[in-house]
Amino acid sequence: MAVISIYNNKGGVGKSTITVFLSDFFSSTRIAGKEARVAVVDLDSQSSSATSLMGIHAVAAAKSDKRSLTHLFKDINTGRKVRIADYLLKREKGRTQSRRIPLAELWVMTQERESAIDIESEWSQQKVVRLLRSLTGTLQKKFDLILFDTPANVDKRNKITMAALRTSDYIVIPSESSRMGVNGMTDTFNMIQYARAIENNRHPAPQTAGILLNKTDRRTRQYKLHHRELIDIAARHDTTLFKNYFPHAHTLSSAADDSLYFPTLREKYNTYYDHVRKAAVELAGRCGYKVRRIQK
Ligand SMILES: Nc1ncnc2c1ncn2[C@@H]1O[C@H](COP(=O)(O)OP(=O)(O)OP(=O)(O)O)[C@@H](O)[C@H]1O
Ligand SMILES: [Mg+2]
Repeated sequence: MAVISIYNNKGGVGKSTITVFLSDFFSSTRIAGKEARVAVVDLDSQSSSATSLMGIHAVAAAKSDKRSLTHLFKDINTGRKVRIADYLLKREKGRTQSRRIPLAELWVMTQERESAIDIESEWSQQKVVRLLRSLTGTLQKKFDLILFDTPANVDKRNKITMAALRTSDYIVIPSESSRMGVNGMTDTFNMIQYARAIENNRHPAPQTAGILLNKTDRRTRQYKLHHRELIDIAARHDTTLFKNYFPHAHTLSSAADDSLYFPTLREKYNTYYDHVRKAAVELAGRCGYKVRRIQK
């Protein structure tokens, strides 16, 4: 399957939340008859999605034990023999006695700020792309789907995020249907264009899978006012808005709370799960593959 970046240069639009939704959903599906294996690479050193999926202690331990993406890069660079599995955190399958769909196994890699700064100030963009491409190549042997959660406010100096965009097959852009959502699009598409133009050994440039609206209430004036504009912006960049979207829901803050234990998808998302499922199935279709029955 694919390598997908969740990217919008604007902060707080739901990149990390949507990364968690998609990884939870896809890890509970079957791809080519087998339980899908999903890896999330959290490129934001704030580690929102990694923490939400793995818990704060596991993420803090990975960073202090030097088991992050950026430590992996540094270890490879110094010629050390590495096992990529040592840099991945594993979430065990949810334990449930009920017939409901348990939260499935998935894997997470984090990033650590200091080592990222070293890499981005000393290494060339080409070198970072080469290393990340080699990593995704290795991960793709083991995983069906790799999701990159990206940080906000990035520019050309953020070589790791630019490399992630460049080495992705698809980029999903979460946004809100608001004036600020519209304002964020110029920078976002500029950065995508910049990343697409980075030389990558004739590897195809990423496609934009579409703009996925989050925190959306279709009844509001704000939605109606800016929706049309977002459709036009998308069209100017050869893409479209997702048909499905994520409504604003206060209950979602608990779904991201790593101190609560949820054994099943339904317990985690309740009625919101249907929105997660529909948007994820639409994304799969946009990336050209079919999602099979969810395992029981
Ligand atoms: N559909 C939603 N309904 C209600 N709250 C939401 C929704 N989606 C995200 N949020 C909340 O909005 C805030 C920002 O979301 P999130 O951290 O996922 O955005 P982000 O784009 O990853 O932010 P950053 O740019 O800082 O990485 C969080 O508090 C999250 O819980
Ligand atoms: Mg985030």
